[in-house]
Amino acid sequence: MLKKIFGSVDAYKEIPQRDDPLFAPIEWDKLPRHVAAIMDGNGRWAKGQGLLRTAGHSSGVRTLKGILSTSIGLGLEALTVYAFSTENWKRPTTEVDFLMKLFTEQLAKEMQEMHEDNVRIRFIGRLEGLPKNLQKQIREAEELMANNTGIRFNVATNYGGQDELVRAMQKVAAQAAQGNLKPEDIDEAMVEGLLDTAGDPPVDLVIRTSGDQRLSNFLLWQSAYAEFYFTEKNWPEFTPEDYVDAMTVFAKRDRRFGGLNKK
Ligand code: FPP
Repeated sequence: MLKKIFGSVDAYKEIPQRDDPLFAPIEWDKLPRHVAAIMDGNGRWAKGQGLLRTAGHSSGVRTLKGILSTSIGLGLEALTVYAFSTENWKRPTTEVDFLMKLFTEQLAKEMQEMHEDNVRIRFIGRLEGLPKNLQKQIREAEELMANNTGIRFNVATNYGGQDELVRAMQKVAAQAAQGNLKPEDIDEAMVEGLLDTAGDPPVDLVIRTSGDQRLSNFLLWQSAYAEFYFTEKNWPEFTPEDYVDAMTVFAKRDRRFGGLNKK
């Protein structure tokens, strides 16, 4: 079983069941289908604790495990997390190297448990730009979980929303160049099918920790009608209880998708 973590990266707790007190505030018929999380503030949290920025990323993994297991308990269809953007290469090499190693190690360590929990992991982004050993680990994990039917867990790594749209347009242009495509063949469904998240429901809720209120090139197309939940808490401090709070805020939103509400 994949378990929820508290305390240290290696201390786990079970996936919460529906009757868990944690879920008492949940309106089960008003949950998002797809949640996207911008896991911001690892560095600031670490600095505040007198630790290295890298320690913040290790603590961020602990939070992520708690949020994934809570998402499974909630029965969400998809969770997409922003682990590394196309812009994050501008950081010092030591931090970039640390993150790549962290992704590789955590994936190796957790993939069996995620598989047992029926998780379907997928890495989204320009994966060919990642270190070879991480690419190999990603392939292994994706292959292991390819036939699972549970939550879709997308990890955005070397990901940028604009880059994703550029890659989709290149695929369209390639088909057009072969004479297989007329301009009127291009519609929303086609574009959606060419994105890294093909097959996933649209994003209903974007959560961003650490105070900033922006999308930072994350899931630009998929978040067209998403609701936003911002919190001042840094990602390492964000708990399953905070996540449940985001769900209750979401349940109260009036989503009109450009139309009028039915009241
Ligand atoms: C943003 O905080 C966080 C990141 C760039 C890295 C996020 C990665 C993890 C939480 C680990 C995920 C692990 C796996 C296995 C997918 P920041 O560094 O920008 O913080 P700051 O804004 O305070 O500097």
